[in-house]
Amino acid sequence: MNKNFSDVLIIGGGAAGLSLALRLSESDANITILSKSDLTEGSSLYAQGGIAAVLDKQDNFDSHIQDTHIAGANLCKDNAVRKVVEGAPEAINWLIDKGVKFTLVDGAEYDGEDSEYHLTHEGGHSHRRVIHAKDATGREVETTLEQHVRALPNVTILENHIAIDLITAQKLGGSTDPRCYGAYALDIDNATVKTFAAKAVVLSTGGASKAYLYTTNPDTSTGDGIAMAWRAGCRIANMEFVQFHPTCLYHPYAKGSLISEAVRGEGGLLRLPNGDRFMDKHHELAELAPRDIVARAIDYEMKKGGFDSVYLDISHKDKEFILDHFPNIAASCKKFGYDMTQEAIPVVPAAHYTCGGILTDLEGRTDLKRLYAVGESSCTGLHGANRLASNSLLECLVIASSAAEDIRQRLKKDNQEIPNLPDWDESQVADPDEQIVVSHNWDELRRFMWDYVGIVRTNKRLERAHNRALLLQEEIIEYYGNFRVNNDLIELRNLATIANLTIECALTRKESRGLHYTLDYPDMHDHPVDTILTPNNFVSHAPIREWKS
Ligand code: FAD
Ligand code: SIN
Repeated sequence: MNKNFSDVLIIGGGAAGLSLALRLSESDANITILSKSDLTEGSSLYAQGGIAAVLDKQDNFDSHIQDTHIAGANLCKDNAVRKVVEGAPEAINWLIDKGVKFTLVDGAEYDGEDSEYHLTHEGGHSHRRVIHAKDATGREVETTLEQHVRALPNVTILENHIAIDLITAQKLGGSTDPRCYGAYALDIDNATVKTFAAKAVVLSTGGASKAYLYTTNPDTSTGDGIAMAWRAGCRIANMEFVQFHPTCLYHPYAKGSLISEAVRGEGGLLRLPNGDRFMDKHHELAELAPRDIVARAIDYEMKKGGFDSVYLDISHKDKEFILDHFPNIAASCKKFGYDMTQEAIPVVPAAHYTCGGILTDLEGRTDLKRLYAVGESSCTGLHGANRLASNSLLECLVIASSAAEDIRQRLKKDNQEIPNLPDWDESQVADPDEQIVVSHNWDELRRFMWDYVGIVRTNKRLERAHNRALLLQEEIIEYYGNFRVNNDLIELRNLATIANLTIECALTRKESRGLHYTLDYPDMHDHPVDTILTPNNFVSHAPIREWKS
């Protein structure tokens, strides 16, 4: 008998994991959620701008669909775009039913179904369509979901449990049956590795932006789910499309402090240190061009002028307007000595979002039977070569709902026994002798990714990064094989895999498209093609229809 057995094991407690748990809880499935930190710690908690949805009568699905395709540089899968865009109103109503308090238009009172919500504007959208809770949408959504999930009797929440690897039929005994039985996870507080068995496993572990020295993401974004899925035999797609958010506060102590795109949506202007605007020289939509274009323009101006940063200026708007729309951003700038109501604030781009990930269909199914991936760790085809602002939380919500339905149906039919899963074997390993190997490699990896696999790439830079990433991976695998695991080592091992996957995808793409811009191939090919990496242990059971290698 497996000790830690549940119907569904959800790895990750962000918007994807928690909304999936809530949707599933409407059945009687018993669910375990693992979170490597506090339950809610993850990118979802820090989301600012909001959630894109067609909610205004003047707006329409076709326009949101078209904006998504344009931002995605013609690499988005139309069925994914349609499903997510058309699922948005239901997802937003579901959140409102759960108690999420979105911001109303000025002076409006909450009036049930007739409430008039404020919709903000963000880059790449041809309409105001981003519903939000002031400038802290993620906190409002995540804490509301948390309250519901914590109250559910059929859900066990294990915080400070970091999943290490998936357990598959193939790993257990040479079977070629590509299915997943569970996962090993380190209980960080007790330094023990536990075995979790489940009829279905969901990876909702978020993105991988911590592979870069400068990022808007919290420490949890180390791409664990993507690396685990790759090791377990799943295909990974489009990792070259790393989204750099254009405007992160520039200050030595402001670690990844994002200045929402909604600031530009509400009139914020980008300026050079001498006060001149520059975005109108780069794109007709100026400050509201898609994110890849704005980030590249800032990078270009900084390099050309030798500047440490550019400036974001909304000080021409009324103080009350700024403080009402952006109370948290204004407070965070104030903490670092900037008053955004009075002056322009220094900003730089930083790694923000992983557009690629574990290849899935629109129910979140991966290449392995009983293994799902939802949220930023997945690649459904929605984002193509560049995610449209505020489409990410939306994807988490819509795909979590359809994955929950698929899992529910499968659980009803599932009579297959799960074999006894072996305990984690620590008989051949010792306590780590030199933790410096781990901390040194963490720093080295994040720096070469920033320097060589950043906003503007070349073959030479990518090859330099590749040589280092391969060496580092070898060193980490050797260290991992000899020493007892801890949190940093588990994450570093995953980051090394992420670095290699990202570089391999980037080297494969011989054109510039969306977020992948290389000086060696500045043009875009006529026919968009996905970059799909296939692991050596890949065994296909029922190929995901939408994706062709
Ligand atoms: P996350 O919310 O990152 O959650 C991942 C979870 O997995 C965490 O609980 C983490 O602890 C856990 N985890 C990871 N690895 C393991 C492991 N090995 N074992 C156990 N647990 C693990 N998108 C929008 O649409 N609108 C916005 O306004 C917006 N603003 C943003 C602002 C910021 C500052 C950032 C960083 C992102 C923003 N995004 C926004 C992007 C969006 O927030 C994320 O893409 C989305 O929240 C991802 O949700 P997720 O559930 O997939 O992952
Ligand atoms: C932001 O508020 O600028 C972030 C929005 C997003 O990442 O979609």
